Amino acid sequence: MLFQRVKPLDQILATAEKKSLKRQLGPIQLTLLGVGAIIGTGIFVLTAEAGQKAGPGMLIAFVIAAVVCALAALAYAELAGMIPVAGSAYTYTYGVLGEGIAWIVGWALILEYTIAASTVSVGWSGYVNGLLNSAGIGLPRFLRTGPFDGGSFNLLAFLIALVITALLVLGTSKSAKVNAVLVSLKVAALVAFIVITVPATHEANFQPFLPNGWGSPMGGIGVLGAAASIFFAYVGFDAVSTAAEETKNPNRNIPIGLIGSLAVCTIFYLLVGYGAVGSVGSQPMVGADGAVLQPGTPQMAAACEGIKALVCSKEPLAYVLHTLGSDKIGYLVGMAASLALPSVILMMIYGQTRIFFTMSRDGLLPNRLSTVHPRFHTPHVLTMITGLFVSFFGALFPVGLLADITNSGTLFAFLMVAVGVMILRVKQPERPRPFRTPLVWIVCPLAMLGCLLLFVNLSSTAISVFFVWALVGLVVYFAYGHRKSHLANGTEPS
Ligand code: ALA
Repeated sequence: MLFQRVKPLDQILATAEKKSLKRQLGPIQLTLLGVGAIIGTGIFVLTAEAGQKAGPGMLIAFVIAAVVCALAALAYAELAGMIPVAGSAYTYTYGVLGEGIAWIVGWALILEYTIAASTVSVGWSGYVNGLLNSAGIGLPRFLRTGPFDGGSFNLLAFLIALVITALLVLGTSKSAKVNAVLVSLKVAALVAFIVITVPATHEANFQPFLPNGWGSPMGGIGVLGAAASIFFAYVGFDAVSTAAEETKNPNRNIPIGLIGSLAVCTIFYLLVGYGAVGSVGSQPMVGADGAVLQPGTPQMAAACEGIKALVCSKEPLAYVLHTLGSDKIGYLVGMAASLALPSVILMMIYGQTRIFFTMSRDGLLPNRLSTVHPRFHTPHVLTMITGLFVSFFGALFPVGLLADITNSGTLFAFLMVAVGVMILRVKQPERPRPFRTPLVWIVCPLAMLGCLLLFVNLSSTAISVFFVWALVGLVVYFAYGHRKSHLANGTEPS
């Protein structure tokens, strides 16, 4: 039942032409958009999480996650080039595996985009709280973090998501320009960090290199657990493909944007990780029983109370610089993160609304939702609904858990994209492919295996949330989309 209703690719392309957004993004803007979406809470905040899970072995985790992403990006680029319409993995699966599977993928993408936006909001709040504290105007503790992380309500995470939502309602092009400036800031901060920390590294800080070993499935700890979490740092390159309908010459520019932005970020991450670990060390915190503590738990929050350590910091890059005595640069990096992380939230909410937009255009969500604002030309209803959810999740949950949940949805979507590429190679070998995945019969199966490997190494809570969410999605589909589908009813809007 789930594999029926495959939407012909030509029809997908034609629908996109009918009710379309304005094509205004070029290759540079697109790569900037990618870097804007990729560099964020992952490197600025989750470095602490990865350190807690893997110690210095987090460097291997960065490499493993990058390899999985590169494999997935090669598959993504083929489909994004062939089907340059909004909706990303959701649209691709609709054209290959049918409506039911496409719905589940779209539903999983909600985890990827909405929850990622919340994750970054929480990451941002860590840096801003740090700056406010050092200025002597810190918020009371209960407003600094959510209830699982030693506080009650993360006020700043809540507020930033609302502000970004307002920006997006006002218009993409204005926001994209702001985005370009903020990307430069972010890159400048990472460069400054690398320049200061890499020369300060010591051999001793890399010992023991694998204090928690490689980890075991569903344990969410060890090198593989860290890789599964730090995968978040690379999430976002596919946001480039969600802008396909707003891209000039998408067949060429989408693959450039995808692979280019991923490559740039990987180099930065390895250097930053190396500098952070090597200069101040990143040994994990253990409980009274000697067992390593799971980050983002009340136990970890309690163990970190009053302790200065990379793995305990909510603003790890600033922490490293302060520890090395580079206070001024530490503040500047904190400031850059505070100014620039919102661009990631922006990209994530933007990506989410474009996916919802496509789903409602297909009749799987109420059509009213995809109303475009007469003056701002943005899907304002979808944007506001998404923004509200982002705010509340950010206010209530810890950054690591949100990141792992994001990753569960993303890994599932990537896996389906790799499957889709292979099926299309067999079913429609003649269809033009502006970008062809190299060694497709090796790259795609490896991408699938990589996604599975990371998925099973997420925390058990994240894996459970994923399956419950998928079940809810199926119920919603059979209660609404299955009956209302434009494809099934022959009611494509004209
Ligand atoms: N990769 C993005 C980040 O790290 C989502 O914030």
